[in-house]
Amino acid sequence: MIPPRGQSARPVTPIGIAAHSLGALVEELSGNKIPAEAWERLHAVHRMIAGLDPYLEAMTTPASPDLQRLANQTASENWEQRSAAAAVHLEQEMVSGHIEGQFLRMMVKATCARSVLEIGMFTGYSALAMAEALPDQGQLIACELDPGVADLARSMFQSSSAGSKIEVRVGPASETLEELEALGASFDLVFIDADKTGYAGYLEQLLSGGLLSEGALILVDNTLLQGEPWANRNPSPPGAAIAAFNEMVVADARLEQVLLPLRDGVTLIRRVTNE
Ligand SMILES: C[S@@+](CC[C@H](N)C(=O)[O-])C[C@H]1O[C@@H](n2cnc3c(N)ncnc32)[C@H](O)[C@@H]1O
Repeated sequence: MIPPRGQSARPVTPIGIAAHSLGALVEELSGNKIPAEAWERLHAVHRMIAGLDPYLEAMTTPASPDLQRLANQTASENWEQRSAAAAVHLEQEMVSGHIEGQFLRMMVKATCARSVLEIGMFTGYSALAMAEALPDQGQLIACELDPGVADLARSMFQSSSAGSKIEVRVGPASETLEELEALGASFDLVFIDADKTGYAGYLEQLLSGGLLSEGALILVDNTLLQGEPWANRNPSPPGAAIAAFNEMVVADARLEQVLLPLRDGVTLIRRVTNE
């Protein structure tokens, strides 16, 4: 069974965090004299919130054996050790997992995408999920900063049936985007899931360069950033970056967008004018 990001040891989605806090509150209050009706209401809210992610898991098509294997291997890595040796902080919770992976697969199928760009690959779960949905001649280019985690992903792609559709490019994504632009590459679907402070720059590179094919769809991960944009008065640098990114997208007349409360938030963006 895949350890989904939202239900991992450390909750990393608004729902996961709320469920965890409510559970702790219920435990803290048990034994206290609380009116029976208030208890019943508190338990009902806890059941509603804590049961949501498991229900979504159960009602969604299971991941392929290759994806399950990749998720299990990701969960079994020593991330403290890997992160210490890496160019950036890395942790198991970064993996997108079952629900989001299935969502991305369906987006690739629904848009009939043949070329996909991923910015921020980690161990390759979302890349492989999308590659599985591509036609035989389809291709996915995945950008990753850390060479160690890129090697890990490559080794898992080699033993996966859709892995040959994935090309991994190691380096800062902004540089990789410049290289791809120079090569004349263009993409039907782009998934942005790297450093949150880089999102605004990646979106602008995509919009102002020639990397988007006609009608391309851009998907952006973590746009709810654990609730920080609206529920935290002292947001972290990634939280502040996501809050500013979301405002920027809303104010950009070239775009239309929808922010979906899927896991930690996914925004779908489409260019509507060429100005
Ligand atoms: C949240 S993880 C990606 C998760 C992945 N999409 C998945 O679903 O499993 C973010 C990844 O972006 C990478 N990253 C961070 N900064 C980057 C940069 N400037 N260029 C390319 N990759 C970067 C990190 O090393 C990390 O592996």
